[in-house]
Amino acid sequence: NSLIELSKKMPKTELHLHIEGTFEPEQMFAIAQRNQVALKYNTVDDLKAAYQFTNLQDFLDLYYQGMSVLLHEADFYDLTMAYLEKVHSENVVHVEIFFDPQGHLSRGVNFDVQIRGIYNALQDAENKWGMTSKLIMSFLRHLSEESAFETLELAKPHLKWIDGIGLDSSEVGHPPEKFLRVFEACKNLGLKITAHAGEEGPPDYVWQAIEQIGVDRIDHGNRALEDTRLVEIIKQRNLTLTVCPLSNLKLCVVNDMQDHPIRKMLALGLNATVNSDDPAYFGGYMNDNYASLINSTGISKKELFQLAKNGITGSWMDEHHKEQHL
Ligand code: HPA
Ligand code: ZN
Repeated sequence: NSLIELSKKMPKTELHLHIEGTFEPEQMFAIAQRNQVALKYNTVDDLKAAYQFTNLQDFLDLYYQGMSVLLHEADFYDLTMAYLEKVHSENVVHVEIFFDPQGHLSRGVNFDVQIRGIYNALQDAENKWGMTSKLIMSFLRHLSEESAFETLELAKPHLKWIDGIGLDSSEVGHPPEKFLRVFEACKNLGLKITAHAGEEGPPDYVWQAIEQIGVDRIDHGNRALEDTRLVEIIKQRNLTLTVCPLSNLKLCVVNDMQDHPIRKMLALGLNATVNSDDPAYFGGYMNDNYASLINSTGISKKELFQLAKNGITGSWMDEHHKEQHL
């Protein structure tokens, strides 16, 4: 299929990627063994068989279990480098990756251990291949705003390595406004802001992310389509949506890839992008996400180019760097 070949060759960006969600079972078992920690599953196949989710929380339960074998700086480096090698082979030229410091701090893994491992891998990828990157620290929304403030304090010595702040984990019941004050503090530090909104949560959460938090981007945003006024505001503000097709399928945000709303988003004039979210858990990296759209949705060459272009314009590269890719 020529569209699939084209999508593989296109230079791409990834703007919605949780580094802990790139933890492949084989690597998870290897690091567990290296660190002498036990996993709940006996074999790679047993673990893979558990990757059957009916909603976001089902996935999150396994995601937090999986990341619990990460203890040392080398573990974070190896995890990040394995991901970067994979997407380098898929013609991804720029990545903006999330990490979840609270998921590691709670297990006694210091902030500097986490960020040094991740950052060194990002630097090595830039030196080796010219792949550029941004690093986004995410707050876990099922925890308190106070815990987010404590995490921000721990991040302060490392702000030269942190470009933006995100909001992830269990969405329903934890609206963006719960984190109003901490995001205000982040903005005052000159950090970019994004938030997961409208994945499972209602359009009101997307409104809050835009009007109350003042986000620079929206992660997912699927349910924004339920509200025509909201769609207009997203367009007016020129906000990018970081959409994740295979994630949406695996977490039952969509029931069938044929019904994925990404073409509708483009038709409405929204800046949708393609991303892999947690590729080790959702069955594919960047090129697999494009392939599934091509195989199931009747997407055109023009739409594929638009998605890739939106990934450049919606990134946090500086304007000069964007022009080099357009
Ligand atoms: N949604 C919310 N939290 C997450 C996700 C997601 O897709 N991936 C990792 N943490
Ligand atoms: Zn996500």
